[in-house]
Amino acid sequence: MAQQQIWYGGDYNPEQWPQAVWAEDVQLMQRAGVNMVTLAVFSWGLLEVADDQWDFGWLDRIMDQLHQGGIKVDLATATAAPPAWLVRAHPEILPVAADGTRLEFGSRQSYNPSSATYRAYATRLTRKLAERYGSHPALAAWHVGNEFGCHVARDYSAESAAAFRGWLERRYGTVEALNQAWGTAFWSQHYTAFDHVEPPRATPTFPNPTQLLDFDRFSSDALLECYLAEVAVLREVTPGVPITTNFMGFFKPVDYWRWAQEVDFVCDDAYPDPADPASPGLAAMMRDLMRSLGGGKPWILMEQAPSAVNWRERNAPKPAGQYRLWSLQAVARGADGVMQFQWRQSAAGAEKFHSGMVPHAGTETRVFREVEALGAELKSLAGLVGSLCEPSRVALVLDWDSWRALEQAAVPASLDYVAQLQRWHSAFWRRGLGVDFVPPEADLSAYDVVVAPAAHVLSQAARQNLAAVPGRGGQLVVAYQTGVLDPDLHVLLGGYLGAELREALGVWVEEFAPPALVAGQWVPELALDGLAAGPATDWAEVLHAVEAEVLATFRAPGALVDGQPAVTRRPAGPGAGAGGAWYVATAPAALDALAAAILEAAGIAAPLLPAGVEVARRGGRTFVLNHALEEQRVAVDGAAVVVPGRDAAII
Ligand code: GAL
Repeated sequence: MAQQQIWYGGDYNPEQWPQAVWAEDVQLMQRAGVNMVTLAVFSWGLLEVADDQWDFGWLDRIMDQLHQGGIKVDLATATAAPPAWLVRAHPEILPVAADGTRLEFGSRQSYNPSSATYRAYATRLTRKLAERYGSHPALAAWHVGNEFGCHVARDYSAESAAAFRGWLERRYGTVEALNQAWGTAFWSQHYTAFDHVEPPRATPTFPNPTQLLDFDRFSSDALLECYLAEVAVLREVTPGVPITTNFMGFFKPVDYWRWAQEVDFVCDDAYPDPADPASPGLAAMMRDLMRSLGGGKPWILMEQAPSAVNWRERNAPKPAGQYRLWSLQAVARGADGVMQFQWRQSAAGAEKFHSGMVPHAGTETRVFREVEALGAELKSLAGLVGSLCEPSRVALVLDWDSWRALEQAAVPASLDYVAQLQRWHSAFWRRGLGVDFVPPEADLSAYDVVVAPAAHVLSQAARQNLAAVPGRGGQLVVAYQTGVLDPDLHVLLGGYLGAELREALGVWVEEFAPPALVAGQWVPELALDGLAAGPATDWAEVLHAVEAEVLATFRAPGALVDGQPAVTRRPAGPGAGAGGAWYVATAPAALDALAAAILEAAGIAAPLLPAGVEVARRGGRTFVLNHALEEQRVAVDGAAVVVPGRDAAII
């Protein structure tokens, strides 16, 4: 992108307002420093008013007005909400839930991603827009659809079932190969024809786990096909105009490693809860994911709320200063754009209580003042556009198959995959370290520390990849529930982990022994002696340290794991420098002590920051973000920096 300024603006829905308001909008945008808006996301019904009957007049006018005002447009293909006439003419495009319920028209995303009819109409609309606006001077980028999978991530209609069978035939070739992969000898699930296979709809009890996983994979691919069908039109009609779609942070239904290959720049929609003290850490992790998905390149924060959202049980506004602080956090962690949902707060519809940059009460408001102030501040940071974040030395393995499999039913204990990642991310974030996310088969040579928490599903190539880290001098950290299954979800027998990781770590796992939560208490209550001494939660297992040093043991009187190894380390062989392979069989409350030991072994000096303080480096600038309410004093590169509560210093 030939970009001069940090993008600032948001979703703009002029069709919700009389045209008299549009001129005021453009003036206010200029006042607020807005240089980019996302237009026409939900405008299909007002653009194609009946089958193949078009009304582009209003969009022409606002495109021109924005251009005259010096504001660029991230123009949507408008395909995220099919109009009523289309649904009535072709009810088969409506999505079907797992229990067979057809989801009616009247909100948005009322389409089945596999519907050939939907795709035909959507690509025709895309072509019309591309032909009409492809050379409009305001056009900066194409915004395909919106948040693919947000509401309808899986569809169980007959058309999707047929597409699923086609996907399975391409994947497995023969029904015997499918039987083998799905382990259908179990519960008489053997198939003799692809035609007999259905999506995992409501079943009497647990469905086949690999069928479930394949349906997840298929559903992500079906959405991707929808996206790519529009992309093909745009590439043909407007080559050279960048194309994107907005991701949603840690979103389980859609495999963003795969999707990120198909966008010209990565975008994220991020709505951490303003009322949750854990939000800054979670937001930092989402920013790191977006940077990683783009291979380190700048990304765009495509949506955030200027203040409250409307879709939680209770919707806290952002307290004064938080909008700025979280926006700067995104820039510090690699964003070249800070965009909001939405420009003008709606007066009608299901989102009328969602904040906007121009609130219901108008411009003499706290929110608008903060919006204006941030616009000015972002302008002053234009020098950062295109710059990279300080390279991360720590990588966290993230894998969609592992996520989906770990959170299936009928497992030793239900675990929250993102919580496993966040525990580790937070341990590094609290020390001012950027963390890159990597898929398990990625090139890991740039990292001194590679952490794989609950990387439940690992191919042999991935196991070899991870196992090679200590041998080249890195620290490999494997936490529980990693390497339990192969990509068909068959157990890696003989002590879990797979031979490659058992060898690298010098351990094997005999038996899982997760504590249960009874009346809010862990039973058994786990504690650690040794490194990371103190309570532990979430998981335990009977671990055998064959060739590894035991750094911590479980204390859990009466339980299987009492006195058994909980944290181990196998130093890499001669010639591998300080390389080491750590195994962590539980979630120590004192993860900081363990992280400190790992970082020390890796030669990374990164002391703990005061609580609530975040430090991130990008383009030669150091961002010191104080998420706490109290003033904090931080040593940055040898100098003391004092940052007031909920404020930031950019050095
Ligand atoms: C996003 C969506 C926007 C708006 C916003 C509200 O998921 O893309 O259109 O609905 O949420 O928070």
